[in-house]
Amino acid sequence: MHKITLIKGDGIGPEISDAVVKIIEASKVDIEWDEQTAGLDVIEKEGDPLPKRVIDSIKKNKVALKAPVTTPIGKGFRSVNVRLRKELDLYANVRPAKNIDGIKTPFNNVDLVVVRENTEDVYAGIEEKINDDTMHSIKLITRGASNRIVEYAFEYAKKMGRKTLHCATKANICKLTDGLFLDCAREVAKKYPEIEFREILVDALCMQLVQNPNKFDVLVMPNLYGDIVSDLAAGLIGGLGVAQGANIGRDYAVFEPVHGSAPDIKGRNLANPTALTLCAIQMLNHINEKEAARKIENALFKTIKEGKVLTQDLNGNSSTTQFRDEIIKNLE
Ligand code: NAI
Repeated sequence: MHKITLIKGDGIGPEISDAVVKIIEASKVDIEWDEQTAGLDVIEKEGDPLPKRVIDSIKKNKVALKAPVTTPIGKGFRSVNVRLRKELDLYANVRPAKNIDGIKTPFNNVDLVVVRENTEDVYAGIEEKINDDTMHSIKLITRGASNRIVEYAFEYAKKMGRKTLHCATKANICKLTDGLFLDCAREVAKKYPEIEFREILVDALCMQLVQNPNKFDVLVMPNLYGDIVSDLAAGLIGGLGVAQGANIGRDYAVFEPVHGSAPDIKGRNLANPTALTLCAIQMLNHINEKEAARKIENALFKTIKEGKVLTQDLNGNSSTTQFRDEIIKNLE
């Protein structure tokens, strides 16, 4: 039996979490969920959107499945997501984007992985007010974190049998910060001659991704570019509803979708649980429950390919719970 931390989050988080928990239950894998609340609702009761008990639970269980948590814009407290990644040193944010049979998109051969540095850059939260009209934000890039993420990306590429790795920066403009990141990438690349290493400016990357995404394989980049490019990549494969992600560190792993808490569709039984289901499949593989992972993946892909029961973001007219039930029906 596995004990896994479950953070249902807020917004659409509880709806998609309930769907995924039911799908996993139906696959008969033996998981005891250690449910931990975090986010907006918790602040009022506990004074902190990410209480220590949540971190302690993940430290104990080593693995978490996490639905999105809202970060109010400009309200002063730091994002739960950023804190979680930082406090558990989940330095690699791995976001695969692969076409799913049955979801119509302009391209049909996208299969790339964005590896995003997860602990520094402008997400380090070093901001200061100079005066009412001027604010500063520090872009923090260190050799240690850059080497570590590029090495992770190369190791990932090697393990997954991938051929090419692009490092995306703005080293032409941010000469010191992105320059350091790129220098580290060039150095690390020398240890992996079997993988083709390429450099690209992140703006050029965005253009090429929407014109010819199939030429990209593994991409590594600093935190902010990784955040933006992975949403772009999600758009290439059918949108945020189907985009999975994982935050990986040396000791812990937190599996969470790319998308946020989608307040616009909260509580309406409209959310697509595919992204969180794909995260759960990654999680099951991570804990070596490969058979359950395979079963759920087959059922999910069958449901989408058949196209009879789909949520609205996939041009269907079914609810979250109908979609969930169809996946459960398709479990063999
Ligand atoms: P969002 O990803 O929540 O929503 C963007 C658009 O995509 C909305 O129209 C939404 O309805 C749609 N969408 C997202 N997920 C969907 C799903 N599963 N099914 C169907 N449609 C879906 O991005 P937004 O609005 O920028 O952020 C909302 C909140 O989420 C913010 O407070 C943000 O800070 C937070 N957030 C949290 C993340 C996390 O917990 N890891 C990641 C990204 C944002």
